[in-house]
Parts: sequence; structure tokens; C-alpha cells
Amino acid sequence: MADTLTITDNRTGKKYDVAITDETIKATDLRQIKVKSDEFGLMTYDPAFMNTAACRSAITFIDGDKGILEYRGYPIEQLAEKSTYLEVAYLLLHAELPTKEQLTAWTHEVTHHTILNENLKSLLDAFRYNAHPMGRLISTVAALGTFYPEAKDIFELATRRKQIVRLIAKIITIAAFNYRHRIGMPYAYPDNDLSYPGNFLNMIFKMTEPRYKPEPALERALDVLFILHADHEQNCSTSVMRSVGSSHVDPYSCVAAAAAALYGPLHGGANEAVIHMLTEIGSVKNVPAFIQKVKAGEGVRLMGFGHRVYKNYDPRAKIIKKVAYDVFEAVGKSPLLDIAIELERIALEDDYFVKRKLYPNVDFYSGLIYQAMRLPMEMFTVMFAIPRVSGWLAQWQEMLEDPDQKIARPRQVFIGSQKRDYIPLEKRK
Ligand code: ACO
Repeated sequence: MADTLTITDNRTGKKYDVAITDETIKATDLRQIKVKSDEFGLMTYDPAFMNTAACRSAITFIDGDKGILEYRGYPIEQLAEKSTYLEVAYLLLHAELPTKEQLTAWTHEVTHHTILNENLKSLLDAFRYNAHPMGRLISTVAALGTFYPEAKDIFELATRRKQIVRLIAKIITIAAFNYRHRIGMPYAYPDNDLSYPGNFLNMIFKMTEPRYKPEPALERALDVLFILHADHEQNCSTSVMRSVGSSHVDPYSCVAAAAAALYGPLHGGANEAVIHMLTEIGSVKNVPAFIQKVKAGEGVRLMGFGHRVYKNYDPRAKIIKKVAYDVFEAVGKSPLLDIAIELERIALEDDYFVKRKLYPNVDFYSGLIYQAMRLPMEMFTVMFAIPRVSGWLAQWQEMLEDPDQKIARPRQVFIGSQKRDYIPLEKRK
């Protein structure tokens, strides 16, 4: 049995053999299929990349039908239970788990790069007090790149690694400083004795105490949330990271662009949308009417449900649900929890959702956790962006080292006017 696909072009009667590798055919192999020799050749039309693999990747594996998610072969459930976010970031970037010495060195390196250049503070101060934290984060990350002009040397391995460490380290400081500016609090500086999530909590919540001590349940919950959000293969923001990176611009510009993609309500903005939805529903007794509205297709979606890839329970959602209960035990239950549980119960039994394979996704419970941690809704997408920086950078690095990759340049099917002559203004109707 040959690993080829035979295509018959019924316009010409010609047959073509196209190689099948890894369950894919090369789109460029279709270009030989043409009616006239001067034609461009056949293309595939695939808006939103529903069935197009744009790269070969060894980082994250997802089986959406079975609800499987693995980073470098390690199941997400095991990583969430046994690992830390910084170890996972190392794994994503280096392909293997670190040894004890490597982990110590990596943790030290990241921790000691969390401080921001003081000049950046004047940029943060320039934002209006109520500017959305994602808008601030996107701009601040792009601006951070201007402090490191050497970052453009993306093929100098030591320089590239330095920027990776800087981005992973400084993203928590940028996120926290933006939050403090928004609420009119002085910036709290990083404390090198704290863990990565502990340090973030310190920079967010420290008041006048000489040393901030993170609540262990919150620190661990945050670490698990960071692990769950670290990578998710070729989603919208990761595709942006790779696409922008394919022009060989510096990684700060790439991360700023990827963060902009994450900001949208259909992607990283969904956790915020879930809280808006639960608040609007208001009480458990209103849940059935809301479900009816969703089913009637009145432009209302059940936010936090459904996924382009998972047609089964999102494995991250299961872990998050457990984390939510740990957090609620430490800090008290969110008043919206009962509404969320009732929504999930009804949706999982309802034919509309069952038929369409709509299950809770990672965002269904994460917003409730952040809310219980007393983070304002506008910070939720920032909480997603922080750990995704390591995934974006791992994907960017893989793209740079992949000999198959070139500058991203999709084709189009042109549907506009044929060539026509310019009409002088006075003759236009
Ligand atoms: N509520 C109600 N109906 C839904 C929902 C939902 N959340 N999601 C999909 N559907 C319905 C659609 O109306 C459509 O029904 P139809 O076949 O009768 O027209 C069917 O299910 C398929 O939906 P699509 O929009 O084609 O699915 P797609 O893969 O394009 O969308 C998406 C995936 C964007 C995540 C979608 O499910 C959605 O909008 N969910 C709500 C937003 C959300 O939670 N986003 C977070 C995603 S996870 C992440 O980014 C981290």
C-alpha cells in the first residue's frame, strides 16, 4: 500500500499522485494541478485554518476528541499535580524536565530578572488611571523591547536565551505594576526569596508589611493555573506569535502581538466574559431561562463552553474545578459559584449542548478563582497571558529553528473587480 493520494482532475482527466506524510499532504504539491500551463495551480481554501497544519511541532499534543493534553509528552494532570510553573516553562523551552541543578539555576535566573528598568515606570505612569490592563500589558511589553536593542539578534543563541528569561521574569512585574497603577497604589518591588507565583501575589497585594507572605493555598492554586495555561499548541495567539516571529522581528514585539490576539473575547477574554454572564444571570433560578435564550440562538453564547479543538471535557477544566474548591476553602466561596454549577449541570444534560459536543473549557472556572483571589475582572486575561509567555516563546524558538519555515504569507482567492480604468471625479455617479 503506497502512502500517496491519487487525485483525478475531472476538468482535464489527468491523474496526480501526491505523497502522504504524517497524515498530511503538502498544499504546494497541489500547485502542479492546472488546466493551462500558465495558470497558478490549485490551492486549498481554508479560512480560520480549520484543517491546515502550518508547522511540525514537538511541544504540545492535544487529542480534542479524547480530552488529552500533554506538554512534551507529559500529561497535563501529572504536571498540574507534581510540577511547578517554572519547571513546566523549562520543559516547554528545553524539551526535557530539568535536573535538580538545572531547575535551581533556571529558577535563580528567572527570579533575578524580575526587576524592571526604572525608566519603564514613566511609561506605566502615562496610562490613564482606568486603562484596561491588557492594553497596558501589550504596550508595555512592546516598549520593554526598546530597552534591549540586542534582542533583534534572534539567531545569537545566548542573546535569544537572555530575552526569553527576561520576558518570562518581567511579565509578572509588568502585570503587577500595571494593576497597582490602576488602583493608585505604589509599586511593590519583586522579592527574590519568593516563588514565581508568590512573587506575583507579593507585587499585587503587598501593603505596608515589611515582608509579604503569600497564602500557601493561593500560591499553589496560581502555580497550577499557570501550568494549565502555559501552552496550547497552534491557537490564535500562538499562530500570531509564529506569524509575526517569521518576519524575524524581536521577541518583545512578537509577545506584544500574541498578547493582543489573546485579548479578544473568543480567546483569552472568555474568562472575563464568563463572570459578566454569571453576574447577568444573577441567580440560580434564572439559569433555565438563560439556557433557553442560548438555545434559541438569540446571539447569546454560553461563555466558557465549547472549544475549537476539544469536543470532550477540556482536561484543564477538570483540574481547574478542583483548584477552585481549594481556593474557596482558603478565601471563601464566590457568590457566582452556585450559578456556574447549575449552568454546567443543565448544559451537560441538555441535548443542544450534547449534540454539539459543547463542554466547559478552561475559562469556565478560572474567572471564579481569580475573583475569589480579589483580582478585578480586567486582570483575568492578564492572568492567562503571564504563563502563556513561556508557551509562545517555546513555539517561537521552534519556528526559528525549523528549516521548513519561511515568512508567513497566506494566499487569497481574489473576488474583487476585474481590471478597470480610473474614473475622473467629475464623471463618477
Ligand atoms: N454556547 C452556545 N452555542 C455554542 C457555543 C456556546 N459557547 N459554542 C459553540 N456553539 C454552537 C454554535 O452556535 C454552533 O451551532 P450550530 O451548529 O447550530 O450553528 C456549534 O456550536 C459550533 O460552533 P462554532 O462556533 O462553529 O465552533 P467554533 O469551533 O468555531 O468555536 C469557540 C469555538 C469560539 C470557542 C466557541 O465554542 C465559543 O464561542 N465559545 C464561547 C467563548 C469561549 O468560551 N471561548 C474560550 C475558548 S477557550 C480559550 O480560548 C482558552
